[in-house]
Amino acid sequence: MNVYDGLRIAAMLEHNGFEQTNDVTDADIILLNTCAVRAKATDKVYSALGRIRRAKKPNAIYGIVGCVARESGADAFRKIKDLNFVLGPQSYHKLPEILNDPDTKLLDINLGGLEKFDELPPITKSPYVAYIPVQEGCNHCCTYCIVPYTRGPEISRSFNDIMAETMHSANVGAIEICFLGQNVNGYRYTDKNGKTYCLADIIRETAKIDSVKRIRFTSSYPTEMTDDLIDMFKSEPKLLPFLNMPIQSGSNKILEKMHRQYNIDEYMQIIDKFKTARPDIQISSDFIVGFPGESNDDFEQTCDIAKRIGYINSYSFKYSPRPHTAAAIMQQQIPENVKSERLIKLDSILNERQREFNLSCVDKTFDCLYEGVDKTGTKYIYRTPYMQPCIVTTNTPTPLAKICITSANKSCLHGKIID
Ligand code: 5AD
Ligand code: SF4
Repeated sequence: MNVYDGLRIAAMLEHNGFEQTNDVTDADIILLNTCAVRAKATDKVYSALGRIRRAKKPNAIYGIVGCVARESGADAFRKIKDLNFVLGPQSYHKLPEILNDPDTKLLDINLGGLEKFDELPPITKSPYVAYIPVQEGCNHCCTYCIVPYTRGPEISRSFNDIMAETMHSANVGAIEICFLGQNVNGYRYTDKNGKTYCLADIIRETAKIDSVKRIRFTSSYPTEMTDDLIDMFKSEPKLLPFLNMPIQSGSNKILEKMHRQYNIDEYMQIIDKFKTARPDIQISSDFIVGFPGESNDDFEQTCDIAKRIGYINSYSFKYSPRPHTAAAIMQQQIPENVKSERLIKLDSILNERQREFNLSCVDKTFDCLYEGVDKTGTKYIYRTPYMQPCIVTTNTPTPLAKICITSANKSCLHGKIID
C-alpha cells in the first residue's frame, strides 16, 4: 500500500511540474511516506526528519504523509517546529495546497475515505507491475494492530473505478496487476442496482484484458476466503499460484488473545482447499513473536506450524506495542531479549524452508516478469510466479521470458532465458 501511495504522490508532484531527485540538498520539496505498524518505523521518522532538516535548502518545504502523520497529528508540528505539512494516508492528495501557499502549515489527518482516488491525476506510464487498491482500512480488531486506527474502517472502492484504473494501467504498460487492501479478500461493493461485487469478480474481469498476463492480490484474512475466490485459482491461469495469508501465531491461545478469528485447524482447512484448487500453490505468511503472554510452549507451536505448512517466504516481527491498541496494555509483556531469541529461531526455520523451496526450483522453467537491473548493473532481475527474484544475463531483456533455473540459494535464483 505504501509503494502505491508513494507512486501516486510522485505522479501528483510530477503533474505539478516537479521532477524526482535523489539528492536531499537539491530538493524543493521533501516528504517521508511513513508506516506506523511497528514502533521502530515510527521512531525512524523523527530521526530522519532531523537529518533532512539539517541537509535541506533553507526554502525547501518538508513534511510527512501516511500513518505516522495520522498517528502524530499536530504533535508533529510541536516536535519539529518548521515542518510544513502532516497529511494522513487518506489526505495526501491535498499536498498541492501547500505548493500554492508554502508559508501555511498543512494538517489533515481525517479519514476521508475514497476521496483521494478521485482527486489524484492519472498516471501516464505504469511500471510492469501495477498496484491497484480495492479497499482501504480494516474492520478486524486484531489487538496488536494500529491499522484500524490509522487507516480507519474498511471501505471498498466501486467496481467500475477499480476496473477503470486497472484498464488504464494496462493501457500504459502494466503486465501484472496486484490488487491491494489491508483486508483485500474482504472486498465487497454493492452498486446502485443492488449488484454486489467481490474480489473474484475483479479478478475475472481483469483476466479478460489481453495485455495483463499475471494477477495477484495481497493481503488476505484467512476466514474471509470465499469458495468463489478459492475456485479462481482453479479456473484462472493468470492468477499466480502464490498467496500471502498471514497466520501470525501457531498457538490457539495466542490467536484468541490477538483476536484473530480462526484457530489452527480452521486455518489448515483453508490451506487444504487452496491446495485442492491449485496443487502447485505456495503460501507466504506474517508472524508475530513475543505477543503478551506467549509462553515457550506457544512459541514452539508457532515453530511447528511454520515447519508443517512450509511457507516459501514470510515476514516475521517482534511484537511491538502500539498506541490505540488493546495488546499494548495487556499484562505479561515479553522481555525484549526473549522476543529477539524467538525471532532468530523462527527466522532460521523460515529461511531454511525458503532455501529448500528455491533449490527445488532448479531445472524447472517458469514464465517470469522483468523487474530491473541487478546491483552490479550487469545482469537483469526477473520475478517468477512465486515472486522469487531470478537473475539472468541477456543482451536484450524482454518484459516476459521463459527462464530455466540453473542454480539457487536462500535469497534468489539464477537462470537462463530459453524463450
Ligand atoms: N507488532 C509487530 N508486528 C505487527 N504487525 C502488525 N502490528 C504489529 C505489531 N504491533 C505485523 C503483522 C501484520 C504485518 C503487516 O505487520 O504480522 O500482518
Ligand atoms: Fe491489522 Fe491485518 Fe488485523 Fe486488520 S486484519 S487489524 S490490518 S493485522
